[in-house]
Amino acid sequence: MAPHFSDDDIEEEQVHFQNVVTTFRQYARYSLNANNRRRKDIHTIPLADRELLTKLGYGQKLKDVDKAILANALFLNKIVENPEIFGHEIGDSVVDGDIGETDNNAQGARDMMMPVPAGGNTYEHAHSPPHTHPHDRPTRPSDPRRGGYRPTEFDMDKLRSTIKLFVRDWSKDGKAERDLCYEPMKKALEEHFEGRDRNTLRVLVPGAGLGRLAYDVAKLGFACQGNEFSHYMLLASYLILNRTQSIDEHTIYPYIHSFSNVSSRETLLKAVTIPDVLPSDLPPGSNFSLVAGDFEEIYGSENSDENEPQAGKWDAILTCFFIDTAKNIVNYLRILHRILAPGGVWINLGPLLWHFENNENEYPSIELDLAEVKELARTIGFKLYDERSIDTSYSSNDQSMLGYVYHAAFWKAVKVSPAE
Ligand SMILES: C[S@@+](CC[C@H](N)C(=O)[O-])C[C@H]1O[C@@H](n2cnc3c(N)ncnc32)[C@H](O)[C@@H]1O
Repeated sequence: MAPHFSDDDIEEEQVHFQNVVTTFRQYARYSLNANNRRRKDIHTIPLADRELLTKLGYGQKLKDVDKAILANALFLNKIVENPEIFGHEIGDSVVDGDIGETDNNAQGARDMMMPVPAGGNTYEHAHSPPHTHPHDRPTRPSDPRRGGYRPTEFDMDKLRSTIKLFVRDWSKDGKAERDLCYEPMKKALEEHFEGRDRNTLRVLVPGAGLGRLAYDVAKLGFACQGNEFSHYMLLASYLILNRTQSIDEHTIYPYIHSFSNVSSRETLLKAVTIPDVLPSDLPPGSNFSLVAGDFEEIYGSENSDENEPQAGKWDAILTCFFIDTAKNIVNYLRILHRILAPGGVWINLGPLLWHFENNENEYPSIELDLAEVKELARTIGFKLYDERSIDTSYSSNDQSMLGYVYHAAFWKAVKVSPAE
């Protein structure tokens, strides 16, 4: 059953989409301005101090950062070259189009890509500790048709985080982090279905981010569907997954946006090339799709009728840094349980950084501890195996003077009984 959306929902979604596109397009101007602030600040200090900075080459470094911003902007502009393909209204025109990889079952929901939560926790902090809070949503009118949208620091932070996430998912530099996060999940999946014909096995990856885990699973021969609701992620992954011509096609500078905790100029200006693989290189007959929309809207349903299209449909679900995006973890776990096939496996890795904790939109937020999440999973009808903790970073710069390690919880859970 496709979710139902009111005209207001659709209108709000159009506006949000267009604001995200504007954020991509305003990146250069916004970021050059931010760098210019540093330049202006040089003139506020005594001349003798300024001379010492000149000797250090600080002014030259600022020029190099400007160049790197422009290089990033070139890449970001490619991402939003043809936003009409997402079927949203752009400016005055409405252009229908196909998202490319969307599968039919979720077609009805594909235009509902919900905005990211305001306030609340996200993993996507460019330079603030993971347990602080991003800026709130803008209070100024945000409808581009009412006089143009000026992206906020919140928007730009999302965009800068997206740039850094390319490193995690699609660069050689991200391999160490992927090996820690994605490899144990893939290994558990392969072991669980050892000897089975993989292309008949359906795997779902909710909260797919930039799509690498879902792609890797498809590459292993499973029929894999990623699901994601952030426009930033969807626009960005579309370019990589559907428009890549060659390995290392793009060069980005992910670390130029903060001068804090930087060990050297080389670290600040480090160029990263993407992608490290050719996404079109999937074996013939592969079944890989990325579905846009809210996980709960698409895969959940009030109706627990086993004939409901998603019920029992998935042989495996892989949640990587995802379950703590729930407002109501009980609903997430119920959905995971309902949509898994009998004997299906749910493989999880991630911390419990409850995204809606203290959010300023007054969304409810249920914040369980790890033991409670596991107990809840068992009560809902999962049997947990291979429970352990994996130390890993998330979208980290290993050359930064600051690093965070998550003691991420890993488990494999098998659906053993129907939910009550
Ligand atoms: C912390 S990121 C993890 C991304 C990816 N799994 C990884 O490990 O890099 C969580 C992702 O879930 C997405 N997300 C959060 N809530 C969602 C929802 N209700 N439906 C679909 N995607 C959601 C976010 O947009 C974000 O891309």
